[in-house]
Amino acid sequence: MNGILVTGAAGFIGSNFVRQWLATETDGIVSLDALTYSGNLANLEPVCRSERHRFVHGDVCDAALVESLLRTHRPRAIVHFAAESHVDRSILGPEEFIRTNIGGTFALLQATLRHWNSLDSAARARFRFVHVSTDEVYGSLETDDPPFTEAAPYRPNSPYAASKAASDHLARAWHATYGLPVVTTNCSNNYGPFQFPEKLIPLVIARATAGEPLPIYGDGGNIRDWLYVEDHCDALRRVLERGEPGSTYNIGGDAERTNLEVVERICALLDELRPEEHPYRRLLSFVPDRPGHDRRYAIDATRIRKKLGWRPRHDFDAGLRRTVSWYLDHPAWVADVTSGAYREWIAEQYRHPA
Ligand code: NAD
Ligand code: DAU
Repeated sequence: MNGILVTGAAGFIGSNFVRQWLATETDGIVSLDALTYSGNLANLEPVCRSERHRFVHGDVCDAALVESLLRTHRPRAIVHFAAESHVDRSILGPEEFIRTNIGGTFALLQATLRHWNSLDSAARARFRFVHVSTDEVYGSLETDDPPFTEAAPYRPNSPYAASKAASDHLARAWHATYGLPVVTTNCSNNYGPFQFPEKLIPLVIARATAGEPLPIYGDGGNIRDWLYVEDHCDALRRVLERGEPGSTYNIGGDAERTNLEVVERICALLDELRPEEHPYRRLLSFVPDRPGHDRRYAIDATRIRKKLGWRPRHDFDAGLRRTVSWYLDHPAWVADVTSGAYREWIAEQYRHPA
């Protein structure tokens, strides 16, 4: 096989990427995932019978496993999603973030470098390592600040953001020092189908439909830029094919909203699509703020727009409607991923009255 290796493929963005890839590209995928609480094989169910897809259950920190996968499958590219991804969990327990996000990226870079050095010159020139990162590495903006460009200084504030920043530095150094053809992307908040219901949008949909309070941290005025997951995956495919090794690309959705606006919009959509329990707005509940809570993220995506011709195709209202509808249509998926351990997490995280 000469396709690509995708780490973290059973998670939210990884599984959307795998499905989109197999629907639009001709070569195959080896998916590597440790199936942590947020990785779910049901996310890959639509492609599980594809002859171009193979799933491997394993840890990205396991250098021997990764090296054997690279030796066996000789992929032409790696797209690295595998990470601990939730800021609140990083505040309560940062250790796993350091292990996976920093240690895992280090292990993968080392194994990839050995693989890349074993290729002939044409294959080396073609090879790419796409490192998927976040806008959170840039820290927090004030209301009137210009959006983050790729030149923005790194100022991570949460343990999660710090671990991703460290992994970005490793990826950068493996390019500068060893010549590994790494391309890094820093994107804003993704939303869409298959997102684990610990993140704001799916959490609010799941809780609202269960008649539970909708926790808004602080004053609800924090701003995020929302990127529909399919647009993100489309951007990553372009970066893989045409991105310049050693470069970074910011990816954003052109959709800055306060958290309160997002939650109120979800409530309005539920009023329309599931009117039995309306008005859902009655469930809004202000709770103590997240420690170190970044006030605002915003992305200047000029580079990827101009150099790779990418722009987001879903506007926020349409993307949110699709997302809410998907969750309403997939109660079994929600029930499956929100069993046992999920309930323990919610009890710990929201133990203040919500
Ligand atoms: P997710 O938590 O839904 O998925 C992460 C996946 O990685 C899971 O399938 C999990 O099982 C797997 N994983 C975790 N530790 C692993 C390990 N040690 N070895 C192998 N697999 C492991 O996260 P997501 O939202 O899909 O995020 C994917 C990537 O995109 C992450 O690197 C994240 O930092 C980045 N990112 C996410 C967003 C967002 O809004 N969701 C925004 C910017 C960047
Ligand atoms: O910006 C990119 C990042 O976006 C990614 O790197 C992360 O992996 C991803 O989790 C996301 O981080 P956020 O912290 O912005 O996402 P989250 O969905 O956790 O929170 C979005 C906003 O909503 C944030 O300001 C906190 C707030 N919030 C969140 C939850 C879970 C609430 O008000 N209440 C909640 O219950």
